[in-house]
Parts: sequence; structure tokens; C-alpha cells
Amino acid sequence: MTSPFPSHPHVLTWVNEMTELCQPSAVHWCDGSQEEYDALCDLLVERGTFTKLNPGRRPGCFLARSAPSDVARVEDRTFICTRRKALAGPTNNWRAPAEMKAMLTEKFRGSMQGRTLYVVPFCMGPLDSPLALVGVQVTDSPYVVVSMKIMAHMGAAVWNKLGVTGRWLPCLHSVGAPLTVGQQDVPWPCNDDKYIVHFPEDPAVWSYGSGYGGNALLGKKCVALRLASWLAREENWLAEHMLILGIHAPDGRSTYVCGAFPSACGKTNLAMLVPPESYRAAGWKTTLVGDDIAWLWPDKDGVLRAINPETGFFGVAPGTSPHSNPNAIAAIARNTLFTNVALTDDGDVWWEGLTREPPAHLIDWQGLDWTPGCGRPAAHANSRFTAPAAQCPSIDPRWQDPNGVPVSAIIFGGRRPGTMPLIYQSFNWAHGVYVGATMGSETTAAAIGQAGIVRRDPMAMLPFCGYDAGEYFAHWLEMRRHIKHLPRLFHVNWFRKGPDGSFLWPGFSENMRVLEWIVRRCRGSIPGHETMIGWTPHWEDFNSNGLPEFTREQFDKVMAVDPAEWRTEVASQADFFLKIYDSLPKELVYQRELLSARLVVD
Ligand code: GTP
Ligand code: SPV
Ligand code: MN
Repeated sequence: MTSPFPSHPHVLTWVNEMTELCQPSAVHWCDGSQEEYDALCDLLVERGTFTKLNPGRRPGCFLARSAPSDVARVEDRTFICTRRKALAGPTNNWRAPAEMKAMLTEKFRGSMQGRTLYVVPFCMGPLDSPLALVGVQVTDSPYVVVSMKIMAHMGAAVWNKLGVTGRWLPCLHSVGAPLTVGQQDVPWPCNDDKYIVHFPEDPAVWSYGSGYGGNALLGKKCVALRLASWLAREENWLAEHMLILGIHAPDGRSTYVCGAFPSACGKTNLAMLVPPESYRAAGWKTTLVGDDIAWLWPDKDGVLRAINPETGFFGVAPGTSPHSNPNAIAAIARNTLFTNVALTDDGDVWWEGLTREPPAHLIDWQGLDWTPGCGRPAAHANSRFTAPAAQCPSIDPRWQDPNGVPVSAIIFGGRRPGTMPLIYQSFNWAHGVYVGATMGSETTAAAIGQAGIVRRDPMAMLPFCGYDAGEYFAHWLEMRRHIKHLPRLFHVNWFRKGPDGSFLWPGFSENMRVLEWIVRRCRGSIPGHETMIGWTPHWEDFNSNGLPEFTREQFDKVMAVDPAEWRTEVASQADFFLKIYDSLPKELVYQRELLSARLVVD
């Protein structure tokens, strides 16, 4: 029998301290059992946070509607608090740790009055993985507890792993909405004053005021990216905002690739890719290891290996359809929590893009009646599904292997309406680090703010790197010395648009064609075409079988490298480099010089 209580004395002390500070009316130590999950879902239904979906259509599924002010990550309320400001770097918000703690302690004081404090032991990474990180989140949100059960190894088994002396990360979370006696609760309690705060030197996380996604499921972005990236630099590994995909060729050889795309830019889609019919007929297969976070480390033979520290998907709902992502549709058929999508009259869910024709009537994400043409989106642009990873039909048999999978390629990419070709390969590791470091992408609804503006998002880690960006690039460059079999580094852009504003590349399952070229380049079995920006495919080597509309002319358009556009691009990259100048590795400055020189010659 596993006990719901830890034998680690510091955990007990800390939970007692947090209880005294937050003054909840009850404390619940989570055991992670199915019974506990079911009881909490029932409680959430009773409180009006959850609507139980029609069990005939979506067995085991619930819909949550958040407060309209709590729908995405809050980057301007996210802080890295290190003793020296320079350690957090110019791309992170910073406050002195003592000052931040003093201020936040007063916010947390009494913040859980009238609520239950849940103690959530969790482990990021397979329990027996050398990289696994144990955290303990205390939270007053039962929505967070049930979400954590899907997204991470959660419950009493984690105490066993921790033992009496193991390392663990304290994660304090409150929605910041205490209830006075007799006060009526709301379905989605939260506070307009939000703080998502990291103390990497402790290390610890304090999150206040939000119950949504990465703000509140602290194992995900806070631990597995911001704190983990800090630890990874100290311990010679990498914690990255990347998908992990297995590509299995007809000859029986498997190639694993990682892909860093910014939030809502296609990681889940690529991780769940179903190859086009012509590929499947030829014997190609893909498998999913991870869709959002990858931890990478060189093994004793110098092979870079990757694990997915999560056990679930917190995926973008809008645009997900049987056509764009059939594996996601299968994964969310049951046991899934939906947040901020629309409710159909027969108790199912709907969002923009799920079907071509919208239903005649819906209840929208804010609980209002909705009809087609009413002028409002039915689902929020950052509405999401929370589903167990094991439910994805293409889940890799090795997805929980503590030793991970070997990585042959890393793909960078963002949403770029112009400039960036469909695919190119860097000349070498340092050049590839430059390509990742200078990545740009249009902003999306995944973070509060203006969507659709191109900004630099190095390695898709701008909102997630727990330390100085220049030091982060230096760490990437340094990793080269620890990896014997270097992965090849690529850049893709599924989002290039023509003059009429339509996408030049069909994307989704057709991205398999780009993956095939990547696999062949990794194997060294295909020549590349040297351009001023890197290696690109020859038309003859680009497999367009089964895609008759995609002609040579279209290929040339989506692959075009325009020196004038690239000069503007380099200038914009230089602007970003100025911002992080103090710690920017000189190698990257030289890479930019080399690129500029090539642009002049070509
Ligand atoms: P986070 O979970 O926020 O980190 O994001 P993600 O990278 O997993 O995003 P996701 O895969 O959910 O991206 C969804 C968005 O990308 C939707 O708007 C999709 O329509 C769009 N998308 C994904 N793949 C493609 C593609 O190949 N072509 C085009 N045009 N759009 C794509
Ligand atoms: C992202 O924004 O990159 C996400 C969603 O994966 S959240 O967990 O809310 O950060
Ligand atoms: Mn993400």
C-alpha cells in the first residue's frame, strides 16, 4: 500500500508552513488514484466549473469555462527572480528574490480561506529516468489537480521515488480568491493581479492569481522548462520547447527528430502527423514521443537522447479536425478535459475548424447562446484539450522509456508569412544554433497580448528560458563538445504566404515530404543544394508523388530566397542581438557576419 503522505521531512515541514500562510479550511493529500480523480470531477461539476459532456458522445469528458480574464499565459506577469539581474537576462522580467517573496507572501497570506489546499506530488519524466524531476505543488484549484493527473506522473508513487532525502521542487499556487464565510463561489475563481514567479536559485515556483494552463499547471512550463533549463545548464543537458517524433522508413530504420516551434505554431500537429496515403502505402510510419517539451542529454556513447517529461497533451483546440489532425481527434474521444471550447446542443464540443459547417446553435466559451454569423468566435482562440498521451493512436511504444530515444535532427520553425523558405539545413552545429537563436515567429493567442506580430523567439524559448538568453546560446554551443553524434539542424516554415494571402504550402500531413528529405539528409543518402542561407532540397529530390497540384513552379515559390528580404531579416536579427549584447557569444556574431557576406556575393 502506498501512503498519500511523504516520508521526506522537508516536504511535511513545507506543506505545514504553506498551510499556515494560506489558511485553507482543509488540506487534502492527493494519492493520484482514479477514485480521487472521479470525486474531484464530480465536485467540479457540483461547483459549476465543469459541465459533464454527453457520455454517449464523449465518455469521461468535461467542459470548463474559464473567467474571460484568465485564458492564456501572462508573459508580462512572469518573472525570473535571481540574486543578480544579469542572470535572468534582458529577455526576462526580473525582481530581487527577497523583495518579490516579501510582497507575494502578503498576497498568499489567507489566500486559500474557505478553500481546500491540495498537495499534489508530481514527477516530470518517467519515474525511473535519470533526468526525472519531482515537484510538490500545493494548490487551491481542483481543476489544476485533475489536470496535473493527466499531464504528469502524479500521486503517492512519487513519494516512493522521492524517499527521505531526494531532490524536490516546491511549487506554491493559489488562484488568489479567498472565500469569506457564506460567500458564494464563482465557477472559475482567479485574481486580476497575477504573478508567475520563478526562483531558480532555490529552486521554487510561486504562482498567484491564475488557474489557466501554463500559469497554473506548474509542472509544465514553470518546472519542466524554466527551472529545468536552469538545472540543465548546470548539469550539461537541455530542457526545450520541442516535440519529439519518430519517423519509421519502409526499410525498417527509425529516425527521431525534435522540433522547436513557438506556442500554437504546429508542434502538436507535427508530433501527431499521419503520413499521406502514398507514404503509408509505401510503408512509412510515424510515432509520437512528445508534443510540447523535450529534455535532451548526451548518453555515455555521446548520442543525444530525448524524453518527454509530460504524460498528457494540453493542446490547442481550434483548427483540430479529422482532416488536419486525425490522431488528436482520436486522442480526445474520451477522458479529456476541454477548456473554453463551445458546447453543442447534444452535449458534445465544437470549435472553429472542427467541421466545415458550424452547428446551427451552440453555447459559446463564455456560456452565451451562439449562432453562425453572430460575429463572435464560438471557442476561444486559445481553447485547449487536456488528454492522456497514451490515448494517441500513434504513441511510440518507447515514449516512457527512461533512456529516451536517440535524436538525429532538430527542426526550428516559426510562423513566417514571408522571407523563410519551406526548408533549409544549417551548414553545421554553430550555424544551426545561430538559425535557432535568430528564429522569428508571429505571436499567437497562446499568450495575452497582440497576436500576429513577428517577433524573435529564439528556439521557441523566449517565454520559457529560465536564465539569460546569451548564456543559453553559449550553453547550446558548448553542448557540441559533449555530443559525439551531432544531430543535423534544420529550419522549416509551413506558413509562407503568397501575394493573395493564402498559404504556399499545403502543410499538415504533407509535411511528411519535408520530413523525408530531413531523414535522407541525416542518413547522408541525398545531396543538398548549397544556397547562401544553407542546404536546400533539389526539386528532383523532393518527393511530390501524390501531390500533383504542387508543381516545380510552386516549389520554387515556397523555396525562394530573396536577398533583399534577407537583408531586412538580418537587420532585424541584429536588433535582437543588440538587446542581448552583453552575453551574446561571439560565435553568433560571426555567424551573422558570414551570412551577411554570403548575401552580398549571391
Ligand atoms: P503550444 O501547445 O501552444 O506550445 O503549441 P503547438 O506548437 O503544439 O501548436 P499546435 O500544433 O496546436 O498549433 C496549432 C496551430 O498551428 C493551428 O492554428 C493549426 O492550424 C496550425 N498549423 C499546424 N500545422 C500547420 C501546417 O502544417 N500548416 C498550417 N498552415 N498551419 C498549421
Ligand atoms: C504554450 O503556450 O506554449 C503552451 C500552453 O504549451 S501553456 O501550457 O498554457 O503554456
Ligand atoms: Mn507549448
